[in-house]
Amino acid sequence: MRKLPLNTPTPAHTARGLAGHGAKHDSAWKHVSGQARYIDDLPMPEGTLHGAVGHSEQAHARIIAMDLDAVRAYPGVVAVVTARDVPGHLDIGPVFSGDLVLADDTVEFIGQPIFAVAATSHDAARKAAKLARVEYEPLEAVVTVTQALEKKLFVRPSHTQKRGDPDSALSTAPHRLKGEQFVGGQEHFYLEGQACLAEPTEDRGMFVHTSSQHPSEVQKLVAEVLGLPIHEVQTEVRRMGGGFGGKETQAAPVACVAALLANATRRPVKYRVSRPDDMVQTGKRHDFYNTYDIGFDADGRIRGADIMVAGRCGYSPDLSDAIVDRAMFHADNAYYLDQARVVGHRCKTHTVSNTAFRGFGGPQGMLVIEQAMDDIARHLGRDPLDIRKLNLYGPGRDTTHYDQTIEQHVLPELMELLEDSSDYRQRRAEITAFNQSSPVLKRGLALTPVKFGISFTAKHLNQAGALVHIYTDGSIHVNHGGTEMGQGLYIKVAQVVASAFQVDLDRVKVSATRTDKVPNTSPTAASSGSDLNGMAALNACEKILEGLTDFAARHWSVPESAVEFADNQVRIGEQTLDWAEFIQQAYMNRIPLSSSGFYATPKIHYDPETGTGRPFLYYSNCAACSEVVVDTLTGEYRVLRTDILFDAGRSLNPEIDIGQIEGGFVQGMGWLTTEELVYSDDGRLMTTGPATYKIPAVSDCPPDLRVTLLPDSPNREATVFHSKAVGEPPLMLGMAVWSALRDAVSSLTDYRFSPPMDPPATPEKVLAAVTASQDWLRQQQKEAG
Ligand code: MTE
Ligand code: MOS
Repeated sequence: MRKLPLNTPTPAHTARGLAGHGAKHDSAWKHVSGQARYIDDLPMPEGTLHGAVGHSEQAHARIIAMDLDAVRAYPGVVAVVTARDVPGHLDIGPVFSGDLVLADDTVEFIGQPIFAVAATSHDAARKAAKLARVEYEPLEAVVTVTQALEKKLFVRPSHTQKRGDPDSALSTAPHRLKGEQFVGGQEHFYLEGQACLAEPTEDRGMFVHTSSQHPSEVQKLVAEVLGLPIHEVQTEVRRMGGGFGGKETQAAPVACVAALLANATRRPVKYRVSRPDDMVQTGKRHDFYNTYDIGFDADGRIRGADIMVAGRCGYSPDLSDAIVDRAMFHADNAYYLDQARVVGHRCKTHTVSNTAFRGFGGPQGMLVIEQAMDDIARHLGRDPLDIRKLNLYGPGRDTTHYDQTIEQHVLPELMELLEDSSDYRQRRAEITAFNQSSPVLKRGLALTPVKFGISFTAKHLNQAGALVHIYTDGSIHVNHGGTEMGQGLYIKVAQVVASAFQVDLDRVKVSATRTDKVPNTSPTAASSGSDLNGMAALNACEKILEGLTDFAARHWSVPESAVEFADNQVRIGEQTLDWAEFIQQAYMNRIPLSSSGFYATPKIHYDPETGTGRPFLYYSNCAACSEVVVDTLTGEYRVLRTDILFDAGRSLNPEIDIGQIEGGFVQGMGWLTTEELVYSDDGRLMTTGPATYKIPAVSDCPPDLRVTLLPDSPNREATVFHSKAVGEPPLMLGMAVWSALRDAVSSLTDYRFSPPMDPPATPEKVLAAVTASQDWLRQQQKEAG
């Protein structure tokens, strides 16, 4: 097979918009002008009904009686379905069983759907759903991680990763610190809520428009719920108005409910979940309870670590096994832990089943070691940046606690570069001087790294397919298994295809993702969308190119080496043909102009029994330096400036990547500062809308935000054009803001005390950290007599 050079096209080529160059998001104009179609914008087929569900008002209870007469009698209601009316599977757990499309006789969280209604309008369906009379027999509810840990209630068994002898390393280390933290969860707050349009087709089948990161799973689960073979169901995803992990598994129950109602009525059903219902009924980022016990030497170098991470999974496994695994894989973040034990618990609670969210547990794992870095620095009276740099992986200290060797050491240099370009040392000196003369306002600074593993840790998901067609006018149509949620995957894959044929980007069109075009696809997740689908599309192009090259050589009697695709043209010996003209000739000579492509990520493996392996093909790296100012009388604060240096390898599209980095950083900052999920003691979510749940606003973004891509840093692995993933890693750069807030408060004690500040560091928490620091000072003074 003809092999394409796996590097970015050379500048000599004149085709526009190739990989490696900035190109606008294919829907940018449609997004801002309101012309981009989301599910709720689709023209409704004749007779479309609207769906809604009634949900549990108890965290844990047995349903003794359910009276739905008033629901059925409500004007406009056409059908009501319960668990008993489900023709196929009731359990729609994506990996493990445990998720019911509609609750049977027991409910396990407030918000769990128990019946579904189809009515002639959205409002009628929602109002009717509120009229059910349900009688519950309450059972004991476990709400928090700590309660679940005490009762040893888990959705999946706990795991341990261990290297060497952490216990003796800890007991012999010159210094030892213990700490704990509660890390908050996060609501996805995608602008487009969960939505779906299900249309019955001929032969009992179903066509489903869904806002899902995982169309193949929606297809499979809808088929299972309806008791159909998978080929009777087609799903299509044109785009999502944001997914962020919240539509990896959680779009499927919505689609299944719509399909059940459509099946019961044989009419199309649109089911759009309202914002407050979406917040109550669908899973979020897991909140975690983490502990650490760390031994280190007088310089602050880690000798041993014993870390526990425990995530609140909610009532069912969903993706929690892999999410807590990823927290464990990232409990080292970028640091060599030496002798180490990492234990991960998957806590079962009677709350909504938490799910994927950008970083997939990784961020929650990293926070434990980042807190420890700051704590070690305060303990030794050193700048936290020095402790972080000292502990970075590097040659000779390059294997993780799960035995993967880090092959490309990007961070030592990247951190130096950022330290320099952000003027870290000079600003540190200025901030120290400022804090000495400013009694109320205190500034803080932190520079934190991110090392994030790229690949699905469930090995079988690391595969992708694509379908490329060239039409007789030379225009190209690409389809692949990846979905578009705003991240720019479609444009990146289009750029890859344009590069393969060396034609202008505007000749390439990527269309909606459909299960009847590319089958058995993986979710668009784990930041691997362009790695996987870009490679699958490239593979399809290579197959077409092979046939075209062979044809050109035979038809014009030249050696294959004299055939070159460049500049929207095909050079064949002495001749040059325009791309479209050449394609027309190929068609007339009956040469295939269409191919499927496939890719499976090489090298990866992991053995959960031993807790060792190479789960990731490579790591994506970046770092951020943030400066904040805190009002120590109120706890309020602002982020003044953030500098980011990001390694995207040989970026497929630097403009899109910078957009991803800015957005990811701000989303991570929101998670660690203002976004707070509050539950009542009996498990009811109290923050169910934007009035009580605060995502970052424009005014919260650093007024000075500088994002740079690390130049000249090709991925050592043979990824598509040697690029690196960017989707999730920038979220974790928000840690710099959290650490800077702790730094600012620590100035109150002359940086001797490391204040507790569990994320989200809301003004209340910052004020509590100020109080704790003042108490510590008083205590010190008392002891000094
Ligand atoms: N960017 C936008 N605009 N919207 C999103 O929903 N999701 C993030 C990230 N960036 C998201 C986004 C998440 S959680 C992932 S895993 C990746 O995009 C998925 O896309 P990729 O693999 O193509 O990067
Ligand atoms: Mo992203 S959390 O892997 O969808």
